[in-house]
Amino acid sequence: MKVLVTGGAGYIGSHTCVELIKNGHEIVVVDNFANSHPKAIERVKAIVGKDFPFIEINICDTEALDKVCADHKPDCVIHFAGLKAVAESVSIPLNYYENNIVSTINLLRAMEKHGIKHLIFSSSATVYRADNEMPLTEDSTRGCTNPYGWTKYMCEQIITDAVKARGNCSAVLLRYFNPIGAHESGTIGEDPSGVPNNLLPYLSQTAVGKHKELPVTGADYDTPDGTGIRDYIHVSDLATGHVAAIEYATKVEGAHPFNLGTGKGTSVLEMIHTFEKVNGVKVPYRITDRRPGDSGVSYADPAKAHELLNWKAVKTPEEAYADTWRWQTNNPNGYQD
Ligand code: NAD
Ligand code: UFG
Repeated sequence: MKVLVTGGAGYIGSHTCVELIKNGHEIVVVDNFANSHPKAIERVKAIVGKDFPFIEINICDTEALDKVCADHKPDCVIHFAGLKAVAESVSIPLNYYENNIVSTINLLRAMEKHGIKHLIFSSSATVYRADNEMPLTEDSTRGCTNPYGWTKYMCEQIITDAVKARGNCSAVLLRYFNPIGAHESGTIGEDPSGVPNNLLPYLSQTAVGKHKELPVTGADYDTPDGTGIRDYIHVSDLATGHVAAIEYATKVEGAHPFNLGTGKGTSVLEMIHTFEKVNGVKVPYRITDRRPGDSGVSYADPAKAHELLNWKAVKTPEEAYADTWRWQTNNPNGYQD
């Protein structure tokens, strides 16, 4: 299968490119480096020992996207490209709505024009309301608290409607829980710009000495140790989920949502202590106020993906923390080194 990967220089995209090639797919990658670095592409090529076409375009540019589809004739698209910082989406919402929604509409039009039948879309657990019972199933109530989340919610709806109207085509909407970890080679990983928003990048940068201490944002949640619980999934497991999703997409019609998570929750303090043990480092931390809008507990019921995609997360938290530390210590400044 020839797969067009949008946003393939990014964190999840780069790891998925590795898995796609390992599983015999041909890939064509596009990215505008809005939140990534060309080195990620070079390093993916080094890991797989293969070259593949990369084209630097903004996928909101209709003509540029049209040319890529005409030149490369993909059979399938994995659409990672998007802006993803929650706080930034609150301060510049129109940039988020424009980039994430226009790009998705453009892609759907290009797919129809070029007869590309299958789409795998990067959605998020953020589409679920915080007051659902746990674990979250694909039928849990949806609703968002920030513009970033609404772009995912709206794109899911747009894709579902477009696929239904077009007929004889399919989309898999992958709702990721909390991606962590890095490729075992330590050569590709998460490279947040500025101060990280997410827990594990902040934790590993604290361990390497870039921050004095890790703020533990809330220790008064209704959880065993009071800190927030999330479903952290190794990025390489997420990547294999995309390979499974392609196979499924070729067998079905219509749009189908799937949770990609482990089904297990981990608290902030559990993560800190296990990270310290696995990597033999100290992580200084301080309890602070809750982050506004944060929920206490979120974890997936991944049964639908087990059953229909024949996919399961297999990597342990210990592997994820060791892989993150290898990436962090080999690349203290991410791809800038
Ligand atoms: P990322 O920022 O590392 O990767 C996204 C890539 O898309 C970047 O390389 C960026 O340069 C590119 N991009 C953005 N807009 C573009 C455009 N208009 N044209 C071309 N390229 C563009 O993010 P990620 O963590 O790899 O996430 C991938 C996808 O998964 C995103 O859609 C994100 O919203 C979604 N997601 C991420 C998480 C997470 O916690 N990382 C969780 C749930 C969902
Ligand atoms: N946390 C800290 N200190 C920090 C950062 C986070 O204690 O410096 C805590 C949070 O309170 C939460 C947990 O660590 O309990 C995880 O926080 P993250 O920011 O890493 O993850 P979230 O679940 O809050 O959000 C992430 C992405 C969203 C995405 C969601 C579901 O940021 O965009 O996962 O995929 F929608």
